[in-house]
Amino acid sequence: MKLSTACSLLMALPLALAAPTCSLKHTSAAPPSPSSTPTNPPGNTTTGAGTNGKISMAWFADWHPDYSVSNVSWTPYTHMAFFTAQPSSAGTVELIISDPSMVDQFTSTALANNVKPVLTVGGWDGSIYWSSSVATATNRSTWATSLVQYANAHGFSGLDFDWEYPGKQGIGCNIISPQDSVNFQYFLQEIRQQAPNLTLSAAVSIFPFVDDTGSASTDVSPFASVLDWIEIMNYDVFGTFSTVDGPNAPLNDTCASGNQLGSAVSAVAAWTNAGFPANKIVLGVPAYGHSYTVPTSTAVSGSTLNIYTAFDKTNIPIGDSWDPPATTPDICGNAPVGNGNSGVYNFWALIQDGFLNQDGSVASGMNSLFDQCSQTPFVYNPSSQIMVSYDDAQSFTAKGQYIDQAGLLGFAMYEAGGDYNNILVNAINKAMAGSS
Ligand SMILES: *[C@@H]1O[C@H](CO)[C@@H](O)[C@H](O)[C@H]1NC(C)=O
Ligand SMILES: *[C@@H]1O[C@H](CO)[C@@H](O)[C@H](O)[C@H]1NC(C)=O
Ligand SMILES: *[C@@H]1O[C@H](CO)[C@@H](O)[C@H](O)[C@H]1NC(C)=O
Ligand SMILES: *[C@@H]1O[C@H](CO)[C@@H](O)[C@H](O)[C@H]1NC(C)=O
Ligand SMILES: *[C@@H]1O[C@H](CO)[C@@H](O)[C@H](O)[C@H]1NC(C)=O
Repeated sequence: MKLSTACSLLMALPLALAAPTCSLKHTSAAPPSPSSTPTNPPGNTTTGAGTNGKISMAWFADWHPDYSVSNVSWTPYTHMAFFTAQPSSAGTVELIISDPSMVDQFTSTALANNVKPVLTVGGWDGSIYWSSSVATATNRSTWATSLVQYANAHGFSGLDFDWEYPGKQGIGCNIISPQDSVNFQYFLQEIRQQAPNLTLSAAVSIFPFVDDTGSASTDVSPFASVLDWIEIMNYDVFGTFSTVDGPNAPLNDTCASGNQLGSAVSAVAAWTNAGFPANKIVLGVPAYGHSYTVPTSTAVSGSTLNIYTAFDKTNIPIGDSWDPPATTPDICGNAPVGNGNSGVYNFWALIQDGFLNQDGSVASGMNSLFDQCSQTPFVYNPSSQIMVSYDDAQSFTAKGQYIDQAGLLGFAMYEAGGDYNNILVNAINKAMAGSS
């Protein structure tokens, strides 16, 4: 079994609560093949990819049995991140979650499709040795040299650092130090010097990096001077680790009285107030949702849905076949939490499992709600009592319009294989280009 997780990139928020979403499994079940021809033929970039210099990016996870490099839809993207490598205990590049033999096919296919391939380093279960790898000048030099050699040897255009998280515990057994953020800065300066021709980016939480006291830093401008961009992972804001159900990826929470855990709007405000320019911020967006078991009496009022309600913590839904129940300990040796289910549904699976129609609209027999504050949809199956908070074309359009209006650099979607017929990516590209 490979070590893999659908939530590895995730977790914007209270990290102690996050681990339950992270399973270490993969499966042999397959998602459906798209039933109709995508509307944009290969090579046609009128979806808006790259319009006005914007970044249209996704992470490519290589461990799904029926989704590989040949399945990737490249046209809507400017950048694709191979997910993922990580620092070894010796502070050098290692691939344990992904298959190293896939890397060259990934980079050559991306380049052949005019998409810049970048290598993501870290992830939820790949951040154990980030801290030690940057702890001393010698270690930083070793780690930077190893990364640059690897990137150049395999044709990558950039490196994407996904340290979850500097100075903050993630999965539970990461090495951490109060000096992490400052050491990370020194490391970025070192690698920028070693590789002036690679793009450098970082996947970050909705809160700015912490300082050496553990509080959100009030000045992250030194990071902005060495990074080309950051991707703010605005997802998993609510999940089965939360006390109530709520939006996975809220665009806004200013209007969510009493339920303000964060949003794209709050995250962009936090990062820009700490000195990170908006035009170097890429908004992380999910092609998946979180599901909850909620009794019909709680979930449904007349023709609408109630959200921010209690759910059955002992009965987390199984989610889709890409994220099967955890049955073995995680990378830290911790046993699965609860029933081991993640409750995660990729967008294609909501269609496969009958929550949504082929075009992404809500299927008949379901209850639904488009929450105006978070600008995200919810769908509820009264037979199975499963409520899902997810993203659709409408919510991706809202996010794309926000990227355009707020002057952000673009979007990055987790994960490329989650979409269906490019419904999500086409919507955000179009809106980001100011054309919807
Ligand atoms: C990926 O491509 C293979 C080979 O063409 C195909 O059998 C499979 O169904 C595709 N997977 C998806 C998710 O479309
Ligand atoms: C791309 O698609 C648009 C709209 O469907 C069409 O107008 C345009 O001619 C196409 N461009 C190419 C190069 O195929
Ligand atoms: C530096 O890296 C080595 C592995 O090469 C590791 O054993 C050591 O603990 C690291 N130093 C620090 C201070 O973390
Ligand atoms: C960057 O420079 C190195 C060393 O000259 C080269 O091997 C590599 O191909 C270059 N990469 C890019 C993306 O230009
Ligand atoms: C977020 O909500 C606040 C309060 O309702 C509103 O003033 C603001 O315009 C909203 N921002 C976006 C981007 O929707």
